[in-house]
Amino acid sequence: MQSSFWLDKWKADQIGFHLPEAHPLLKKFYQQVFDGVQDVFVPLCGKSVDMSFLHAQQISVVGAELSPIAVADFFTEQFPGQEVSSQVLNGSSLAQPSSGLILQSSIDNLRLLIGDYFALEQSMLFSVSQSNEPFPVTGIYDRAALIALPDTVRSEYVKQLVKLIPAASMLLITLDYEQQAMNGPPFSVTQDEVEGLFEFANIKILSRKNIIDKEPRFKDKGLSAFYESVYHIRW
Ligand SMILES: C[S@@+](CC[C@H](N)C(=O)[O-])C[C@H]1O[C@@H](n2cnc3c(N)ncnc32)[C@H](O)[C@@H]1O
Repeated sequence: MQSSFWLDKWKADQIGFHLPEAHPLLKKFYQQVFDGVQDVFVPLCGKSVDMSFLHAQQISVVGAELSPIAVADFFTEQFPGQEVSSQVLNGSSLAQPSSGLILQSSIDNLRLLIGDYFALEQSMLFSVSQSNEPFPVTGIYDRAALIALPDTVRSEYVKQLVKLIPAASMLLITLDYEQQAMNGPPFSVTQDEVEGLFEFANIKILSRKNIIDKEPRFKDKGLSAFYESVYHIRW
């Protein structure tokens, strides 16, 4: 999936994936998965309200998102009137942005990196604790990130995740359905695929439900089953 696909979606405000409130399954499982975790990385974060939810639980958040529109909207909508600082992280200048440009926008303990997830470096994820000692991010929250990617890049996504965060406790929410009946995104990612992608890790399934009756836009596409699953993955 080309970057332009997502950048165009944000420009056209076609963001049916965005939820107005924190995800109920994050609320249900975050304490279990992020027990003892101080920092959570949110790849492909959009302008997810889930990040403000985690931040409100005193967890530091680092999100990564391609679209500057999503990031600007996030701060305007979630933290109106609050001063947001911005910084270029990878040496490119704002006046002459390169394709690898990574910017960060932040308020206290909540930073969004603007750029390509696959171009991120581990040092960009380090946050600064109150004692000004850097410490690594150890939590990962993935809702609609893995399932936003076509199958050809999902293993690259996982490789990059492990490179960025060598020891992690991850809350992963996926969807699976009959892929032939509909084109993604969201793509169908089955339990077998999750087990294959994370074969090096400890995987526990926390929940799996058919939510088709709550998803009229997918029912209208002819689907009779639409499973939402939650995993706790540790490595
Ligand atoms: C389906 S949306 C999910 C957003 C968010 N996780 C949520 O739950 O609302 C996928 C997001 O990933 C972003 N994205 C896609 N490819 C990306 C990449 N290579 N690097 C960073 N962000 C990317 C898109 O712009 C989009 O906002």
